[in-house]
Amino acid sequence: MIYEIYPRSFQDSNGDGIGDLKGITQRLDYLQSLGIDAIWVTPFFPSPNADFGYDVADYTGVAPEYGTMADWDELTRQARKRGIRVLVDFVLNHSSDQHPWFKEARASRTNPKRDWYVWHDPAPNGGPPTNWESIFGGSTWEYDAATKQYYYHIFLKQQPDLNWANPGLQKAMHDVMRFWLAHGASGFRLDATPYLFEDPTWPNDPDVKGGPSVGLKPYNSGREESHAILREMRRIVDAAPGQAILLGESSTPTIDDLAKVYGSKADEINLPMNFLYGNLTHLDAKVFKRQLDDAHSRLRGQPPVFFFSSHDHSRQWTAFGDGVHDDAIARLTAAMTLTAGGTALMYYGEEIGMADLTAAELKDVPLGPKRVVADKRDPERSPMQWTGTAGGGFTTGSPWLPVAQAAATTNVAAQSADPHSILNWYRQLLTLRRDLPALREGSYVPLESGNADVVAFARLDRSGQGVLVLLNMSAAQQRLAISGWAGGHVPSDGRVLLTSQPDATVDLANPVLAPFATRLVAFRVR
Ligand code: GLC
Ligand code: CA
Repeated sequence: MIYEIYPRSFQDSNGDGIGDLKGITQRLDYLQSLGIDAIWVTPFFPSPNADFGYDVADYTGVAPEYGTMADWDELTRQARKRGIRVLVDFVLNHSSDQHPWFKEARASRTNPKRDWYVWHDPAPNGGPPTNWESIFGGSTWEYDAATKQYYYHIFLKQQPDLNWANPGLQKAMHDVMRFWLAHGASGFRLDATPYLFEDPTWPNDPDVKGGPSVGLKPYNSGREESHAILREMRRIVDAAPGQAILLGESSTPTIDDLAKVYGSKADEINLPMNFLYGNLTHLDAKVFKRQLDDAHSRLRGQPPVFFFSSHDHSRQWTAFGDGVHDDAIARLTAAMTLTAGGTALMYYGEEIGMADLTAAELKDVPLGPKRVVADKRDPERSPMQWTGTAGGGFTTGSPWLPVAQAAATTNVAAQSADPHSILNWYRQLLTLRRDLPALREGSYVPLESGNADVVAFARLDRSGQGVLVLLNMSAAQQRLAISGWAGGHVPSDGRVLLTSQPDATVDLANPVLAPFATRLVAFRVR
């Protein structure tokens, strides 16, 4: 279980309204009590914050608003004591346009750093070399008047793409990795891995004329050249002490493409996040069954990585909730992600059912000198709700983004005291996941629920102990006729482990599920 922390919003330790590294250290006991194996900390490096830290101006520094290198070292030391590993967000596809490397690169066409970025002459008409569109809108090309060439950026123009074909750049970035590994990191979350290389023939995008054409394209992503780069990074983390790993922001168009991200010899990214699952926002049992079955049958036996919420996704409470059954739905999405096998990722606050900030809550947000526009991802980045007091226990000052009004009732303190809270549902799931070999490392058994609205699967350990997972993805009561057990034998003696439906009974063949009910049943095969 890896827990994503957006440091700006997790815990403020000095009252300036901005979360910081010391704040994370203060909350490690809480994370340990949840049973988290690792935390992924999103960027805390010096940055002009055009894209809140994802525009890095110094890869081996700590931005003063987040603390100091000593705070970082203390965080990793304290985390290690509690059995929690710390992953650094490595923004490798692009730097900030304020990074000294880019300043040098744009100084002249003959500067030694010129080739660390991706430059191209204008098209014959003086316009951009291709018609490609960047992920944040507009052309992927920005004209540099001084040197009369365009530079390439798949994200903002303040985020020029680095040229991974350049050996000097490669070495500099490898040194960055070794720096953090020497400073207590147990690996990296690799940002935007699909976009490291582009088609060197620079074809035009045929889709552009029909409207915006953004995202994964054969010419801007998933290029063959990336594999050697990622293999080298894997060698670097493998050589580090303490089982360091690579977690990848590896969106792919298909499951077969995702299988390749692990490397043909499982020698590239250890844990590529499954965006085919993570991007889903609508409960449809047929779609989810297919995603779960595919993740277990088409990734060549490599561990899938399931998640829903992140700093780039609407929170799952908001994305999946229907306004009526939100509580049951939150339990269902949690149970699915945490019992389906492989690795699971959680986003801070998901465990208490935090929702996105509403438009009304965001209306009066002060933008300040650095922040000229509100990010459309602000809603899912609001401060962690620790208590019901002003500032939500996040800060004693004025928070950089508002603490949700819901914090008055939806907070860690209140939910800790309530055995039926979402937080305690997560705690129970995480405990089962740790304690039961079937959930920890058991095989995934796809089952047919006999009902198009219900996902059913089992996890089974070597000794024949299993857990049946039933997820009703509809607002109606559903009756099931479960089939697909090995040898056709329905296991007999079941025991309910966890249910969101208080009157649940044990029936392994024809159970009945309340609207959006989740049920976990222990069983034994003979
Ligand atoms: C990744 C990050 C996102 C960022 C982008 C550019 O997608 O998760 O927040 O904006 O990369 O670095
Ligand atoms: Ca602070």
